[in-house]
Amino acid sequence: MAIRNILQVGDDLLRKQSKPVTSFDRKLWQLLDDIAETLHKEEGAGLAAPQIGVLRRIVVIDVGDGILELMNPVVIREKGIQQEVEGCLSLPGKYALRKRPQVVEVKAMDRRGREFRITGKELLARALSHEIDHLNGVLFIDNIIRMVDSSEFNKK
Ligand code: NI
Repeated sequence: MAIRNILQVGDDLLRKQSKPVTSFDRKLWQLLDDIAETLHKEEGAGLAAPQIGVLRRIVVIDVGDGILELMNPVVIREKGIQQEVEGCLSLPGKYALRKRPQVVEVKAMDRRGREFRITGKELLARALSHEIDHLNGVLFIDNIIRMVDSSEFNKK
């Protein structure tokens, strides 16, 4: 496994559409392990492949319940609205208040190409929504209520 370099806002690759994953092989598994290791080192809640410069539809999330790997994730249902402070490993030190669905149901594939569905609420719903946005070149600052200074909330 290896720690990967996380691209920062301003990098053109963060604004590109990522392509579907078609090969569920050892190369993919290595990439998934690298993304997970990088996510844990940075103490983030999620990391998408384009954030390390790989334009594939891959998302890794860990909101405290262990690693969740999603290949080719598609949002199939959204419900409700939540409004919380959000950040991103590609915009360190920047936080903003923004709206996300309260519940997000996603269809995706696991590392072996098997389809599964997951329903996320609250933090997991936010993470799913935020990370899937990355696959379409969308950053959380694109649609915010307002920027928030880190002194306004308890951030570890
Ligand atoms: Ni992000």
